[in-house]
Amino acid sequence: LFDEVKDTFVDIHEGTIVDCTLGYGGHSEALLEQNDSIRLIGIDRDDTALAFSAKRLERFRDRIDLKKGRFSEMIATIDSSDVRGVLADIGVSSLQLDHAGRGFGFEGEVLDMRMDQSASLSAKEVVNGYSQSELEHIFKEYGEVREYKKIAALIVQQRMKKSFESAKELATFCAAHLRRAKIHPATLVFQAIRIEVNGELAELEGLLDTLRRFRNCRVGIISFHSLEDRIVKNRFKEWSRNCICDANAFRCTCGNDHAMGKIITKKPIIATESEIRTNPRSRSAKLRVFDIG
Ligand SMILES: C[S@@+](CC[C@H](N)C(=O)[O-])C[C@H]1O[C@@H](n2cnc3c(N)ncnc32)[C@H](O)[C@@H]1O
Repeated sequence: LFDEVKDTFVDIHEGTIVDCTLGYGGHSEALLEQNDSIRLIGIDRDDTALAFSAKRLERFRDRIDLKKGRFSEMIATIDSSDVRGVLADIGVSSLQLDHAGRGFGFEGEVLDMRMDQSASLSAKEVVNGYSQSELEHIFKEYGEVREYKKIAALIVQQRMKKSFESAKELATFCAAHLRRAKIHPATLVFQAIRIEVNGELAELEGLLDTLRRFRNCRVGIISFHSLEDRIVKNRFKEWSRNCICDANAFRCTCGNDHAMGKIITKKPIIATESEIRTNPRSRSAKLRVFDIG
């Protein structure tokens, strides 16, 4: 959604744009090029991504400030009065997915999946240490895995013989035991574990909570699965509501002027056919935009 992100922020000519998910700096670079009088704060919790982007954005060094940390925490430390745009392109980067040593992909040599490699919880602890009911819970809630009970039980049985050591081993195990579908059978199990390891839903909720305090700011959020998209959609709906009276109230007594701004994308923006052809991962990306007044 590269061009769509550029279009989202094209009218911002002053102040600061915050890129909450710097990654390898593609969006930040495009925004710094396009909006040549803005400043940019780039956040990521992955040291490798920050180092990569620091080099890539070196020529903009006078206009950027790169910060390491979780965006839910970092956003609260920023002076919002100057911020005119906030972008979050949540999920994993290709840099993380394609590196077998990080354990995000099915070929991963380790069982890790931490975006921040100094964080204490990794996929290894989740897969080998969580109780059967904890596994069921994350597979059901974060992966919407149909056979969540079955796969949780099988993992627990298997790890009593030998613990899981790599993402590859786990992916092969899932493929052998879960029903085949259009996607790799391990996709949703991996999604669930990754969300748990990185606290991804709480991160998104935390970011949205803080943005409530921002004014005069355009917010663009790209999500990659329905759980996140639902959170963004519902929050934007809530932000755009004038009336905050109880749904059962006989008549409105709140003043009917509580909207924080307006929804710009009635329907989410999705990737074009040609983008999906060149970047298949973009097929599940959804961009929603809100203008905080
Ligand atoms: C999909 S990539 C972003 C790609 C980026 N837009 C680009 O153009 O290269 C997501 C990045 O956000 C980071 N990330 C995800 N959740 C985060 C969080 N809660 N706090 C900080 N960084 C996060 C990941 O480490 C990853 O590098």
